Amino acid sequence: MSSLAEIIVVTNRKGGTGKTTTSVNIAAEFAAQGQRVLLIDMDSQGHCAVGLDIAPAKDAPTIHSLFQSDGFRLTDAVYPTAWPNLYLIPANPLFEHGSGDGDPTRLARALREEGLTDRYDLIIIDTPPSLDNLLMNALCAAGRVLVPFVPHHLSGEGIRNLARVLFKVASGPNPDLKLLALLPIMLDRRIGQHRSVTDGVSHQFGKGRMLSGIRTDIKLAESFAHRQPVRAYMPGCRGAEDYAVVACEIGERLAALNNR
Ligand SMILES: Nc1ncnc2c1ncn2[C@@H]1O[C@H](COP(=O)(O)OP(=O)(O)O)[C@@H](O)[C@H]1O
Ligand SMILES: [Mg+2]
Repeated sequence: MSSLAEIIVVTNRKGGTGKTTTSVNIAAEFAAQGQRVLLIDMDSQGHCAVGLDIAPAKDAPTIHSLFQSDGFRLTDAVYPTAWPNLYLIPANPLFEHGSGDGDPTRLARALREEGLTDRYDLIIIDTPPSLDNLLMNALCAAGRVLVPFVPHHLSGEGIRNLARVLFKVASGPNPDLKLLALLPIMLDRRIGQHRSVTDGVSHQFGKGRMLSGIRTDIKLAESFAHRQPVRAYMPGCRGAEDYAVVACEIGERLAALNNR
């Protein structure tokens, strides 16, 4: 039986909250479970390609080509990776993130019309922090939102701002969009501020939406330098363990949302 891909957008308007680390490692976890996974990197920093050891040639098609030329086929920008079931549409590092103008449904239509939603079980979209047309395209293409956040003093405010954007998209162009989960990054439960920020966010968005979290682990940074998901670079390290647990929790939440 074939069914349509779950499309998860990984987003937080703040930079450095673990969006890319989470996108790459969650994608690798689900691929290792045997799901067909497509990771799309919408941030022109292009770090997903680094993390999965893909080096697109200059002028090679990327996700950004979709917004730069008519008649472009997204399928031409899909790269297989060294890991079974795991595919990447990379970013163009020369793309300049611009305004919020433009058709917000371009990506959603391309994924559907080119049959990518049939070909994969899971599509994960890593996003730039800017509130631009690319982010709007990601939010209009996705059904589920995953928000990684570092549990510092101001992160609650940032998540509330993001929630307003999500609400606007869900009450306008994409009524299917739902908050899947919140993921504390570099979490240390011994630190009072981490506990109070995480508890505050849980209280506001629902306890069931708070994932167990990712501890600080330098191996997560190192694995990017070694161009591998952490589960391949250092199996059994804290980061690999935490992402494996969190991938299971995400799988359960997806199932729960779909059975409602
Ligand atoms: N759990 C973690 N432990 C240690 N370092 C981390 C962890 N998560 C992310 N990092 C590091 O923090 C930086 C920002 O992470 P990144 O995933 O690039 O964030 P974003 O995509 O939101 O900007 C990177 O250098 C990354 O290696
Ligand atoms: Mg990033």
